[in-house]
Formats: sequence, structure tokens, C-alpha cells
Amino acid sequence: MQILIPFAALLALPATQAIVLPDGTGRLPALGWNSWNAYYCDIDEAKILTAAHAIIDLGLKDAGYEYVNIDDCWSIKDSRDNVTNQIIPDPLKFPTGIKGIADEIHDLGLKVGIYGSAGTKTCGGFPAQIGNEYLDAATFAAWEIDYLKYDNCYVPDNWTDIYSACVPDQWQTYGPYINGTCPSASSGQDEISAPPGYDWSTSLSAIRYGIMSDALLAQNRTILYSLCNWGHAAVQTWGGSTGSSWRITGDITPWWARVAEILNEGSFLSNYANFWGHNDLDMLHIGNGNLTLAESRSHFAFWAAMKSPIIIGTDLLKLDSEKVAILKNKALLAFHQDDKFGKPAEPYKWGVNPNWTFNATHPAEYWSGASKAGTLVLAMNTLEKKAWREIKFSEVPQLKKLGASKDSFEVRDIWSGKYLGCVRGSIGRWVGSHDTVGFVVGKKCRG
Ligand SMILES: *[C@@H]1O[C@H](CO)[C@@H](O)[C@H](O)[C@H]1NC(C)=O
Ligand SMILES: *[C@@H]1O[C@H](CO)[C@@H](O)[C@H](O)[C@H]1NC(C)=O
Ligand SMILES: *[C@@H]1O[C@H](CO)[C@@H](O)[C@H](O)[C@H]1NC(C)=O
Ligand SMILES: *[C@@H]1O[C@H](CO)[C@@H](O)[C@H](O)[C@H]1NC(C)=O
Ligand SMILES: *[C@@H]1O[C@H](CO)[C@@H](O)[C@H](O)[C@H]1NC(C)=O
Ligand SMILES: *[C@@H]1O[C@H](CO)[C@@H](O)[C@H](O)[C@H]1NC(C)=O
Ligand SMILES: *[C@@H]1O[C@H](CO)[C@@H](O)[C@H](O)[C@H]1NC(C)=O
Repeated sequence: MQILIPFAALLALPATQAIVLPDGTGRLPALGWNSWNAYYCDIDEAKILTAAHAIIDLGLKDAGYEYVNIDDCWSIKDSRDNVTNQIIPDPLKFPTGIKGIADEIHDLGLKVGIYGSAGTKTCGGFPAQIGNEYLDAATFAAWEIDYLKYDNCYVPDNWTDIYSACVPDQWQTYGPYINGTCPSASSGQDEISAPPGYDWSTSLSAIRYGIMSDALLAQNRTILYSLCNWGHAAVQTWGGSTGSSWRITGDITPWWARVAEILNEGSFLSNYANFWGHNDLDMLHIGNGNLTLAESRSHFAFWAAMKSPIIIGTDLLKLDSEKVAILKNKALLAFHQDDKFGKPAEPYKWGVNPNWTFNATHPAEYWSGASKAGTLVLAMNTLEKKAWREIKFSEVPQLKKLGASKDSFEVRDIWSGKYLGCVRGSIGRWVGSHDTVGFVVGKKCRG
């Protein structure tokens, strides 16, 4: 018997203190590259350094990308150092150690990330951190690591949460969501629901992730802490007092259905994100699987609009120039990295479905968000064929306030970068299947 907590109950934001790091680290969502979606376990120094050089050569560093993150499978698998108990980098994959490659990456003016797990082993079965958090954090600091992605595999029984939160990812198990709300009790499920108003920051998951947070903060080094507990234990309610970003779902896969599914889940969580704390929609798959150019545009546009960390996950040497251009899109990166406006964009109209419908294949299509450059507006086509999408200024909350019904505004197209002049009332386009159009609606025009 299970009674899942209603989504609305999660909207009560606890008054927790955000993690504020020196030099603005983690204030804005991270930009970088990670080895997993490109190479999975098959990594070595050459591949990581090739990516680091490509970040520079392709102009991605100039566009703001800075982290080069080594994911799972970097260490010796079956043991730690029998004297110091430290994790040992695999000498075949990383002949100069993690310190050696970190030095090379730093010499390029980039930062370096490493991967661990809040369990007995990493997801790939390598030594992980539980019980050794302070030792490993000190080792990472000694290697001059700048970023830790902290996964959720091999959690010991005595660290398993008593209650299970409603995880939107598992909607297929639990039944359809209504208005972003978990389905009500149904019989035959074996997990125990949390009592109404349960404070998930007291859960074993929050404590488990909190130990590594404390361990990193105890180091004489700024290490961005990226929580990867797959959206469990209502992490959005405590992630911001534990780290700089938190994954809201299980892993992304390189096809549209999964991108749309994650996009839908993220659309209900914008209240939790602001400066210093970000919903992580998972690493990009642009360049992988069967994502089309249109789907790649939507993937990037919404990861930027929702202010998720943007961590590229492909072999950059194989990426075609059109997709590189997507990753360098000026208007979207400016929105993502805006230092005055921390809130992500939000849907103002769902489109295909009624407002507030939780739907994995047809998420919200019409979005807006405030920025220094003006109001970012996006319109997506979730259908399988071309369709007309019209952004009516009177429906956009930020423009309504400015008197959208009578005035015209300076408009720029986010993809072409072209200034479209003064536009009054609305802007409409034919939009290809799974594609997204977007505009920055700036100042009111005179006269
Ligand atoms: C400790 O590890 C070293 C190699 O790293 C090995 O030569 C030595 O035999 C090990 N000692 C024990 C007690 O396992
Ligand atoms: C689980 O067991 C380990 C090993 O005995 C112990 O260190 C840890 O504190 C326990 N965790 C909890 C939540 O009690
Ligand atoms: C859905 O939830 C939102 C947010 O709580 C609320 O504003 C809206 O009125 C709800 N819509 C319906 C149809 O219940
Ligand atoms: C902390 O690190 C800085 C910069 O590397 C160094 O100058 C300083 O001495 C360190 N402080 C301590 C207490 O180790
Ligand atoms: C893309 O790949 C996925 C997984 O193999 C598949 O389910 C989907 O149908 C493919 N989509 C297209 C458009 O080929
Ligand atoms: C959804 O919201 C938009 C913008 O406020 C509004 O124009 C539209 O009528 C709403 N649709 C529904 C079905 O409530
Ligand atoms: C999602 O929305 C589409 C379009 O309205 C609809 O056909 C589909 O049945 C919905 N899916 C679910 C699981 O409700």
C-alpha cells in the first residue's frame, strides 16, 4: 500500500541556505564537457585531453565552457592503496595520474571534474566514497579537482530511505500524472509513502549526500558539487543546501522521447532553481544517437532556458558544424549565464495539452523568462509534423506587465541572431517536428 505525496506539497519551499562558493563558483549553471555520453567506461587520458583541446579549438571555451569532467571508470577497480587507503587512478588509462591530467587541463585555462558515488561502489563497480568521504575529498583537492559529480549506485541497506518520494521518472510504474501531481494511492505497491509534510532534508539520502558536501567544504579548494541522485528523495527541496546542482531524473538517452520526457519533468520544477542552485536535466546528447538537428536545437534551447548545467557529452571531433553552432548559441548562453536574472524560464502555455498537464510526449510548448537582454520566448512543436506556433505577447507574463496589448517591441531571432525590428501583438512561425523557435523580445519601440 502506497500513498505518494502530492506534487503540490513539494512546492512548499523550505527556508534552507544555498551553498555559496568563492569566486561565484556554482552561482550560474555550469558549462562543460563530460566523458560518459561519448565514451561510457572506455576512457583514457588521450580522449579527455583531445576533448579539452577541442573545447578550445572549436571556440567553446570562448563561448563559456570551462569544465572537462572525467566520469566513471578512472580508477583501479578492486582495491584502494593498502597503506593510505586512497583511490588509485588506473595507470594504464591515466599514466600521469589524475593530478597529471588535471595539470594539463589547468594549463589550457580549463577546469577539471571527477566522478564518484555515494555508495560502496560507483555504477561501473569501481571504489566509491561512502565511509571515505573526507579521505577522498582530500585526495580530490590534492589532485586540484574543481568539480565532483556524485552518483547514487550501491547504496548500502542501512542507508536506504524509509520512505519513497514520488519520482516523476517512475510515472510509468505509478500511473499517469495529473497536473504534475503524483497519482493517489493504489494497491499492490511495496514502497512506503512519506507522511504529509515530511521534510526530505532529514532523509538518509539528504544526510548521505550531505556528508560529501561537508567533506568538500572542509577542503582548502573550491570544488563544485554536482548531486546525481536521479531526482530521488525530493532532492529539489534540499539539493540547494547541499550542492550547486541536482539531477532531477534518471539518465538521459540519445533519442527524442527521453529528451521530451525530461523536459516535461523539468517544466514543473522551476520554482526550486535560482542563483546558486540548479535543476540538472542531465548531460547533453547532442551529437549522439538519432537526435535530428531540430531535436538538438530543442534539447539545447530548453536545457539553457531551464538553467540546467550544460555539459556536452559527445566526441567533439565528430560533431558537425551545425551542432557546434547550436552549442555556441549566443542568445541562449546569455540567458543561461545571466548574472542579474537567476530564475529559469517557465511555461506560460502548454499548447497541445491543457495548461499544467504532465505529459512525457507532449510537454509544455510555450515558454518565457526574464533576462538582461529582454524576455526570452520559446515555442516548440512536439507533434510529428510541421505546425504553426504563435507567441501572443498578451499571453507572455513578462510582456503583459509592459503593456503588450498595445505596444510594439524590438525582437531578435535567437537562431539566426537577426534583428527583426519592431513587432506588435504576436509572432508566429511554421515550426518543424520537434523543433523550437525562439526570440528575445527587448525594449518597447517608440511611437
Ligand atoms: C600493497 O600494495 C603493494 C603494491 O601497491 C604490494 O606490492 C604489496 O604487496 C601490498 N601489500 C599488502 C599487504 O597487500
Ligand atoms: C551504516 O553502517 C555503516 C557501517 O557500520 C556505518 O558506518 C553507518 O553509520 C551506518 N549508516 C547509518 C545511516 O546508520
Ligand atoms: C495545476 O497546478 C497549478 C500549480 O499548482 C495551478 O496553478 C493550476 O490551477 C492547476 N490546474 C488544474 C487544472 O488543476
Ligand atoms: C590554501 O590554498 C591556498 C592556495 O592554494 C594557499 O595559498 C594557502 O596556504 C592554503 N591554506 C591552507 C591553510 O592550507
Ligand atoms: C531513435 O532511436 C530510438 C531507440 O533506438 C528509437 O526508439 C526511435 O524510434 C528512433 N527514432 C527515430 C526517429 O528513428
Ligand atoms: C493557458 O495559459 C494561457 C496563457 O495564460 C492562456 O491564454 C490559455 O487560455 C490557457 N489555456 C488553458 C487551457 O487554460
Ligand atoms: C500526452 O498527450 C498526447 C496529446 O494530447 C496524448 O495523445 C497522450 O495520450 C498523452 N499521454 C498520456 C500518457 O497521457
